[in-house]
Amino acid sequence: MLCESFSTYTLSARITPHSTRANPLPVIINSLIAVLLGVAVFYVNQTDKAPFSTLTTETTVNAPIADVWAAIANLDSWKEWNRYEAFTGFNVSAHGPVPENQSGYIEFSLRGDGKYLTYPLTLDSVSHDSHFIQWTANVPVLLFARHSLKLDQVSETETRVTDVEHFWRLAAVLKLAGAENSLNQGMLAGLKSFVEEKSATPIPAVEEVVQQPESDASAQDLPVAQAESEPAL
Ligand SMILES: *[C@@H]1O[C@H](CO)[C@@H](O)[C@H](O)[C@H]1NC(C)=O
Ligand SMILES: *[C@@H]1O[C@H](CO)[C@@H](O)[C@H](O)[C@H]1NC(C)=O
Repeated sequence: MLCESFSTYTLSARITPHSTRANPLPVIINSLIAVLLGVAVFYVNQTDKAPFSTLTTETTVNAPIADVWAAIANLDSWKEWNRYEAFTGFNVSAHGPVPENQSGYIEFSLRGDGKYLTYPLTLDSVSHDSHFIQWTANVPVLLFARHSLKLDQVSETETRVTDVEHFWRLAAVLKLAGAENSLNQGMLAGLKSFVEEKSATPIPAVEEVVQQPESDASAQDLPVAQAESEPAL
């Protein structure tokens, strides 16, 4: 009964000539705001264009590239050197190809204080041949962050680590993410001291046992150099 009279009332209100002359401005303004918001959300959500910000952070670890890569490629060791990020739920074998675009989780600690929050994460690629790992955090509208570590051999005992992180979406536009690289610096410093400490562990009496003439040593190097020049599988 109440319902019926209400709809009768709204119907009659709608067809009165007076109501058609109601000020259309609020409706137009609201529609315009909605359209602008939609365009803004669409624009901010895109990730196929240049990132809003990019952080590049480097360090040199005084250790062979194989030692540095071993720490990175063994995801189980991340909690030992990385106070900010650790990964769970990924299948990364120590050797051979690693499946691309795996879905799993990141345990993330913004302050590096041991208090982690868990978020979904994609492990885009892990290449044992190129010493490269890349992962992507994807939160619609809020954040899209693509982060990678790449190793380059400087010498037999020095390895350069290059950390590149690209940021898209609202958090990047508002500079809540990607504005400064203290977290990335903290990660690399942790990696450096972890690997250098392990690498420095002395292997007892190697020099006393191995006393070869120099020509033997260079002959030993040869197969290694050949192996490196072969195309990666
Ligand atoms: C992990 O990846 C390897 C290499 O693609 C594959 O052979 C293996 O079956 C995978 N293991 C699991 C548990 O998915
Ligand atoms: C992984 O994702 C990238 C980008 O989304 C795509 O180009 C690539 O083909 C994907 N690889 C596989 C094996 O699905």
